[in-house]
Amino acid sequence: MNQDEIRARVRTYYTQKLEQYGQTPRGVDWNSEDAQQVRFTQVLSICADDPGFTLNDLGCGYGALVDRLDLLPGFASYVGYDIATAMIDAGRTRYGGRSDVRFTEVLDDVPISDYTVASGIFSVKGDVPVDAWARYVHDTIDLLAALSRNGFAFNCLSGFSDPERMRDDLYYADPHALFDRCRQRYSRNVALLHDYGLYEVTIRVRLD
Ligand SMILES: C[S@@+](CC[C@H](N)C(=O)[O-])C[C@H]1O[C@@H](n2cnc3c(N)ncnc32)[C@H](O)[C@@H]1O
Repeated sequence: MNQDEIRARVRTYYTQKLEQYGQTPRGVDWNSEDAQQVRFTQVLSICADDPGFTLNDLGCGYGALVDRLDLLPGFASYVGYDIATAMIDAGRTRYGGRSDVRFTEVLDDVPISDYTVASGIFSVKGDVPVDAWARYVHDTIDLLAALSRNGFAFNCLSGFSDPERMRDDLYYADPHALFDRCRQRYSRNVALLHDYGLYEVTIRVRLD
């Protein structure tokens, strides 16, 4: 299966979630707002202490991250990118009047920013074969790196989850392998966060 086909499936999946549940955590397939916010805390730890930064949000959904960025003193500007047009429309509706917030579904319109984060884009593989999904994940992490000057962060379901709770339609990464890949490919400054109570890992990469 090629990556355009994968992206088409992902687009359909999330468009249906938004249609069903609207601009809510469930509308981007999270179980709860608490879990959505815990994930935001982890990925934003890449930039939370930076006194002045720009940020891309890859797989932005309806843009809920913007409300968290507004609480950070160093936040300067945001670009949200999503492959689902309905998500981009929702983000524009929510934050349309702002000059520091922009949404796009065109990858070429995403600038290189200080940081790029991605929360929740690697989990739902549906019936895509694991090998093809893993390649897609790796290529997308390359994209996160290419779009970032100072660093990037993303999350992924953890292969250390309880086997009886793991599902065939979800993708679980080996946290050690992800860490090693990022350390060898992008930077020596990599953090593996696996201590925030979800069956997940967040990888944080500070670029040299
Ligand atoms: C689980 S939702 C999370 C949305 C948002 N990050 C949040 O936490 O509220 C994943 C979102 O990423 C988008 N997405 C998935 N894969 C993507 C990709 N490769 N490129 C851009 N967007 C993607 C989906 O359309 C969906 O809106």
